[in-house]
Amino acid sequence: MSLLEQIDKDRLPLHVAVIMDGNGRWAKEKGKLRVFGHQNGVVAVRDTVEGAVELGIKYLTLYAFSTENWNRPKLEVMALMELLVSTISKETKTLMDNGVKLNAIGNLNSLPEKCHKQLKEAMEKTSANTNCTLTLALSYSSRWEITEASRKIAEKVRDGELRSEDITEEVVSAHLSTAGMPDPELMIRTSGEHRISNYLLWQIAYAELYFTPKLWPDFRRQDLFEAVIDYQKRERRFGMTSEQLN
Ligand code: IPE
Ligand code: IPE
Ligand code: MG
Repeated sequence: MSLLEQIDKDRLPLHVAVIMDGNGRWAKEKGKLRVFGHQNGVVAVRDTVEGAVELGIKYLTLYAFSTENWNRPKLEVMALMELLVSTISKETKTLMDNGVKLNAIGNLNSLPEKCHKQLKEAMEKTSANTNCTLTLALSYSSRWEITEASRKIAEKVRDGELRSEDITEEVVSAHLSTAGMPDPELMIRTSGEHRISNYLLWQIAYAELYFTPKLWPDFRRQDLFEAVIDYQKRERRFGMTSEQLN
């Protein structure tokens, strides 16, 4: 039975989030510069997006650049930004062919002007697509996002638009950059690291975590399918007992 046939289409995660890690080590293994790893990471992104569409995953959120990644060597940061611009313009056709709507979360104003512009263009172009929403987390960190949300909520209370007793979990969610999106049910991290690195901390409160030693440039849709198969074998209890669920 193929991997795809092993997946129950009625129990798909609506939202899958991915921490794409291991580009640098992949390049190093091959005696190349880190940037070579990032370039090859694009192939993995394309295949994963196409795999998500093939499967019927409605939301795919990829961690592409963290707030902390600004602390990398200047040359690597610049190369990543260049790669982002060229990839977005080259891959817009792939997005259109697959009916994928592009979205972005993070401190987008901190990106170089060219990146921000390219991103906005691609988002506008793909805005009517409905198969899948692909969200890129760029200059993103969860603590940044939660801090921003807190500020916005505080301002509303100050201005009398919101009463502090009306602040609910829904209100907090609605002020995050993922407002309107369902929380990820499945979170994948590649490269064998077992940490979250400031990614979607609020949103993954009840996500199933899946770790694979595979380095990101080697990741393909089959790996996504395997993660979904693993996800479907788990019992999601949400604090209840197994007996309550059955
Ligand atoms: C992930 O790969 C890509 C980004 C963080 C931009 P890394 O560049 O972190 O690769 P490793 O972890 O050093 O191997
Ligand atoms: C997390 O990877 C960020 C992205 C995948 C964009 P890192 O490689 O930056 O994470 P740490 O520093 O090892 O935790
Ligand atoms: Mg890394």
